Amino acid sequence: MKTADFRLTIDDCNRKSSIDNRQFQGLLRRAKNQGNRARFALKCAASGIPVDLEENMKPQASSRFTPISGVIIIRIVLISCLLLLSALPIAAQTDLTGFWVLRVPTGDGNYRETFLDLKQSGQKVTGRILRNGRETPISDGTFSNGKLHLVVTTHFQNQDRTVNYEGTMEGGKISMTVQFPGRDPITGIAEPTQPEAALPPSRLPLPALHDVPDNGLARTPPMGWNSWNKFAEKVDDDAVRGMADAMVTSGMKDAGYIYVNIDDTWEAGRDAQGNITTNRKFPDMKALADYVHSKGLKIGIYSGPGPKTCANYEGSYGHEQQDANTYAAWGFDYLKYDWCSAGEIYKPEDMQAVYQKMGDALQKTGRPIVFSLCQYGIADVWKWGPKVGGNLWRTTGDISDHWKSMEEIGFKQFVIASYIGPGHWNDPDMLEIGNGGMTADEYRAHMSLWSLLAAPLLAGNDLRSMSEETKSILMNTEVIAIDQDPDAKPVKKISEQGPLVVAARPLMHQTWAVGLFNRGEAAAKMSVTWEELGLHGKLQVRDLWAHKDLGRVADQFSAEVPSHGVVLITVMH
Ligand code: GLA
Repeated sequence: MKTADFRLTIDDCNRKSSIDNRQFQGLLRRAKNQGNRARFALKCAASGIPVDLEENMKPQASSRFTPISGVIIIRIVLISCLLLLSALPIAAQTDLTGFWVLRVPTGDGNYRETFLDLKQSGQKVTGRILRNGRETPISDGTFSNGKLHLVVTTHFQNQDRTVNYEGTMEGGKISMTVQFPGRDPITGIAEPTQPEAALPPSRLPLPALHDVPDNGLARTPPMGWNSWNKFAEKVDDDAVRGMADAMVTSGMKDAGYIYVNIDDTWEAGRDAQGNITTNRKFPDMKALADYVHSKGLKIGIYSGPGPKTCANYEGSYGHEQQDANTYAAWGFDYLKYDWCSAGEIYKPEDMQAVYQKMGDALQKTGRPIVFSLCQYGIADVWKWGPKVGGNLWRTTGDISDHWKSMEEIGFKQFVIASYIGPGHWNDPDMLEIGNGGMTADEYRAHMSLWSLLAAPLLAGNDLRSMSEETKSILMNTEVIAIDQDPDAKPVKKISEQGPLVVAARPLMHQTWAVGLFNRGEAAAKMSVTWEELGLHGKLQVRDLWAHKDLGRVADQFSAEVPSHGVVLITVMH
């Protein structure tokens, strides 16, 4: 029996629909009946990848088929080419115009959804991408040879960033790879959907405003750890247990850090009764809470008033009381409640009522739960935060592990410093100390500034692997004492000359904490006079980073302050 090799080259292997597979298989069957053996292979012209017709043209090694005569084979090849050619215009007409939902698996059983509203004209694709309630126009888009290419430029944290979407059309779906700058590419499948799928649910009525009673918690700024800065969506049960262990063994607990807070991405969907469930990263929340409590620590959780959280997981919209009850039943002691997709339904002026709803719900559970508002300082939250039962409220957007981010956030806080008091605190976001993006001087400035501001001290690093330097910054008990000062008086900016800022906070026992901050690029000599503090005479000075008494000093204090650094002292009679 003879074997003949035949090769067929197809111009465009991505146009899967361009070959009528069934017809082609019919021809092959007829060839087989002729009793000869033939080796039959298809190849993509562009990639040179062999293609198997049986597998609907997925790249694969060539297939063996039996048998056909030379004439028939030539016919097959010719007919196949004709089929290919006749199919091409059909494929070229494939129109992407319409609404698509792109589902990207998050690896924990959830999907992150992005909507694509596409318009195709020839090879050009225009439209918009809808993600997390934000709409971004497609700045460049093409669809040719079954390949979709979209470019979207977003403005994020004062920077333009370009996101590339590459897709391949397969059986009415698009296999997509999304490339965010500086991140690993992510993949998902886009399917046609209705525009309504991208719309938020209808608005639920809001309660009339009233004052939620003080819950008696957080008399000093909360201290602990939060998963977001270091772990983001990679946080899981194991990491949280590890963090609780390390909180104790590292000495953080003794220094005052108590809350172990799980941020976004623990959520799954809801069960048949509407109860929120956890995804596979958190198999048993109650057991986890029990574990953290067994270490003498407290545990925090995260949600938001919208249908989705900021990371696009299930939010508490329409389930506020039910979720508060679940958190209490699991044993949680702290809730961070993040606005995000609530902005698609409510306006900033609705925020007070929206947060009041959860403030009331938490109190109704009967469990003491610290209520942390996260809405980035919109609508002057410091003016109404305590009224909704809030113990702390974010005053800015997200911090990142860079000097510029930290200083821009931190030095903006003085104007609202007077809105703090026992049980209610301004929150300029979590600490980045130990995450590696700043120098030790910068981290010392970060810790000093947050303490002068009486900010919550929520470490955002991996507590299991802290360097001695990181420990010395996070666990400087003299600096922590400023943060936790029971008098809860606000910090004041004493002077500002270019990049040189002096800030001081009155503490109990007529002591002042004074920070001399150098935001400049070179070391500088800085001073503060006792007169500027409303003091006089010879005063006792202690350097809190050098851990050194500097004796009694008359009239003023001067020091050389490193670039992006601080000298932090206490001054007392
Ligand atoms: C927002 C918050 C962050 C973090 C993420 C989680 O960006 O400001 O602190 O909670 O959401 O998705």
